[in-house]
Amino acid sequence: MDDYKRREFIKLSALGFVTIATQLNSISAYAQKANAHFGKWNEDTKLNWDAFLERLSQLAKTQHEVPWDQKQYTDQVRQLLLQCNFPAFENIKKEMDAYENKRPNWFESASLHYEMDFQVSLFQFEKGEYIPHHDHPNMTGVLNVVSGSLLAKNYNVEEQSSESREIKSGEKTFEVKKCILREVENEILKTGDVGLLTADEGNIHSIMPNEFTQMVDVFTPAYQYNTNANWYKVNEDGFYQGKEHLYEAEYSITRF
Ligand SMILES: [Fe+2]
Repeated sequence: MDDYKRREFIKLSALGFVTIATQLNSISAYAQKANAHFGKWNEDTKLNWDAFLERLSQLAKTQHEVPWDQKQYTDQVRQLLLQCNFPAFENIKKEMDAYENKRPNWFESASLHYEMDFQVSLFQFEKGEYIPHHDHPNMTGVLNVVSGSLLAKNYNVEEQSSESREIKSGEKTFEVKKCILREVENEILKTGDVGLLTADEGNIHSIMPNEFTQMVDVFTPAYQYNTNANWYKVNEDGFYQGKEHLYEAEYSITRF
């Protein structure tokens, strides 16, 4: 690069930087102006989408602290969600307006925001589009019902059995393992309600929408390509050994 070109390059880079910095400042100023400055926020402050994301990305950084207080984090996210009127947000309204029940007997989902530290998703269910028991390995989940209602049940693993068996399905072999689950939550979440799970409290859950239901969820950290959720078959016919809130369950892991 000759001197002239180098100088031009530096000049353009500096100009580019200033432009980006100015834009970032104005985005941040917009978010703050619309929602009051960080320091002045209180629980009644209404947030817009930009302010919500800005605050959430700050909070989500706490996951890198050792130890990470997930209970406190999920409570803070719950509070943020309660300060948002999601159906009025343009990006979410657009997704809601475009809703089509493409998958019979299964929910529809849309990504609203994704970064490694956290993701925000919209779930839309027809009545009865049940999500069976599954876990969220090493993640927290905060679910906000924005319309409709659902039955949410959450569980902890009470006891892991050493018993297992193999089953074959096509080319794959699965190892089926047994465990005992303890139901720790069984609640109807109505419009405006928020449900929580952390890596070690209520991490396994099932969801049954009682009517057409829309839900905004925050998962922390975000799903990665190697996130391997387990799906559980839970015997809900009766309590395990007659002990209240305990259920026998099986889940399978791919062996090879
Ligand atoms: Fe889930």
